[in-house]
Amino acid sequence: MIFRKNVPLADFNTFGINSTAGEMYIVENKSELFSGEIQNALSKPFFVLGGGSNILLSKDFIPSIIKYNGKGIQFISEDSESRTLQVNAGETWDDVVLFAVDNNLAGIENLSLIPGTAGAAPIQNIGAYGQEVGNAIITVTYYDIPAKCEVTLSNEDCKFGYRDSIFKNQLKGKAIITSITLRLKKIFIPDLRYKQLSEIFLNSNEAPSLKTMRDTIISIRESKLPNPALLGNAGSFFKNPIVSEKQLKFLKSKFETVPSFSSSGLIKIPAAWLIENAGLKAKRIGNVGTYEKQPLVLVNYGGASGEEILKFSELIKSEVFKKLGVSIECEVNIV
Ligand code: EPU
Repeated sequence: MIFRKNVPLADFNTFGINSTAGEMYIVENKSELFSGEIQNALSKPFFVLGGGSNILLSKDFIPSIIKYNGKGIQFISEDSESRTLQVNAGETWDDVVLFAVDNNLAGIENLSLIPGTAGAAPIQNIGAYGQEVGNAIITVTYYDIPAKCEVTLSNEDCKFGYRDSIFKNQLKGKAIITSITLRLKKIFIPDLRYKQLSEIFLNSNEAPSLKTMRDTIISIRESKLPNPALLGNAGSFFKNPIVSEKQLKFLKSKFETVPSFSSSGLIKIPAAWLIENAGLKAKRIGNVGTYEKQPLVLVNYGGASGEEILKFSELIKSEVFKKLGVSIECEVNIV
């Protein structure tokens, strides 16, 4: 375990917000969670940090941070169609995707280049280009803080939804995820549901390989989303909202071309479209703005405080509601 005091957090969150942690405990393995120091830290207010890629640090000071850093990827079982991988929570998510692709295993390749750790992936059920991690997860193991023991949940018990899981609801603040298991397929059937992907491969004679798929996803992401190493951001700041038939009709009466898609029987509208059509694409106030190519991503142009970003996000929400009558919700975790 590593213990540090008064830690600047700019390098621990992809927004690059310079808050400070009074105390930081970096836990290297499961047994350390049961040590006196960590048990003591868990009895006071704390925040569990993963890769810091889906959080907004809205306060300048956080008394205590616990970061689970345990690493390791291993195969634990296999059948004719699939192999099961156990991944410790501190692994970088994209290293897991690379490992899967290098071993010719399919099911998470469209989730290439998503920042963050493997342990954080189930919390918001990371998703992109037609795939969600919840479709590959078999189990999630976590340290249960109130019960002081380890618990393993089945996929069903994780209650995965759109950017949602039990870890964002009933288990919020009560769990430190230590590992996940993933079922990956030996046969690769490209998931081309995302329009840009089907367009790219439509005219090609050969089906893409796993490696080609990963490379294509990486180039799509790089063309649309800002690189957090260059421009602070936390990916989509808002979720795509679910609207009623009535709201969609109203929007269609104003904008003929309003895009919408149905997902599990619900109608969703891209938050990016709403923000753009509320006149807020590439809007900037001080050090914060909506990204010029993808306005549901908020960016820190440098030196923005968490409070500044939070205020800006509230303005975007209220302007979208005022102009288009749709409420949009945050996707990132406000700390
Ligand atoms: N659009 C605009 N203006 C823009 C950009 C997009 O109107 O400037 C509209 C277009 O109609 C476009 C639609 O928004 O067709 C959808 O855009 P995009 O395909 O970029 O996807 P998204 O719905 O905005 C979601 C995820 C992303 C994920 C992409 C690709 C959410 C909140 N976000 O974005 O996830 O990478 O799909 O699958 O669901 C993340 O969660 O951090 C994230 C980046």
